[in-house]
Amino acid sequence: MMRVVYAQSGDLKAIAKCHRSAFSDSLSSKLGLSYCIKMLNWYIEGQGKFLFSIMDNGECIGYCGGATRMPGANLGSASSLAQYTMIKGLIAICVRPWLFFTKEAKANYEFVFRNIKRKLGLEKKRTKPPKPAPHYDSMATAGLVVIGVSPQYQGKGIGSQLLQEFERKAIEMGIKHLHLSVKETNDSALRSYLRNGWKVYENLNGLMFLEKFL
Ligand SMILES: CC(C)(COP(=O)(O)OP(=O)(O)OC[C@H]1O[C@@H](n2cnc3c(N)ncnc32)[C@H](O)[C@@H]1OP(=O)(O)O)[C@@H](O)C(=O)NCCC(=O)NCCS
Repeated sequence: MMRVVYAQSGDLKAIAKCHRSAFSDSLSSKLGLSYCIKMLNWYIEGQGKFLFSIMDNGECIGYCGGATRMPGANLGSASSLAQYTMIKGLIAICVRPWLFFTKEAKANYEFVFRNIKRKLGLEKKRTKPPKPAPHYDSMATAGLVVIGVSPQYQGKGIGSQLLQEFERKAIEMGIKHLHLSVKETNDSALRSYLRNGWKVYENLNGLMFLEKFL
């Protein structure tokens, strides 16, 4: 029987396996199971974050993670996650140095080096934000940071079930605005978001930014 389960540390291995099957080509998956577990742990540590999965007979077939963002917050979820997983990520890269030269890693060099500097306390203090604040910066919002369904369960409505649970959770937390980003080439994900009432508000360098008001 399928059920939604809010993750605790004992569930992270099953969710990490699901993540690695849903995102088999991603750098995070290639960095190994224990890196993925650390990454998923970010969602269940601290306030304002959540991670849930859909379990079917003890197997995780889909999962979704979100993080709330309060007005004016200056560290987005990607940087916060990078800070949290930095040591584990560097160890995983040392064991698999070829990954450092992959296309996905290269595309993230600037982001990674900025976060290493920040971790070491070497980042220069900014007097103004590096890029325009998102248009929703003045309201509490929940970011859908990750969503994945195991390939053999895709196309059966599981993604929609996860999106509905994400909304239910946000409402429970008193949040009325949701946001996410997705590559414009990710047709199946984009279709799923649009079908579930999300709207595109920006398309920047191949990345689509979507939102939904609750
Ligand atoms: C994005 C992702 C989570 C969507 O999951 P999904 O379960 O396939 O998505 P949906 O629930 O929207 O279902 C999609 C299809 O199932 C069909 N479907 C079948 N039964 C359904 C039901 N009961 N309810 C809703 N849809 C159903 C839909 O019509 C839809 O078909 P279409 O894509 O041909 O239009 C999944 O494709 C995935 O894990 N991708 C890899 C990871 C990824 O890219 N994540 C997003 C990064 S931003």
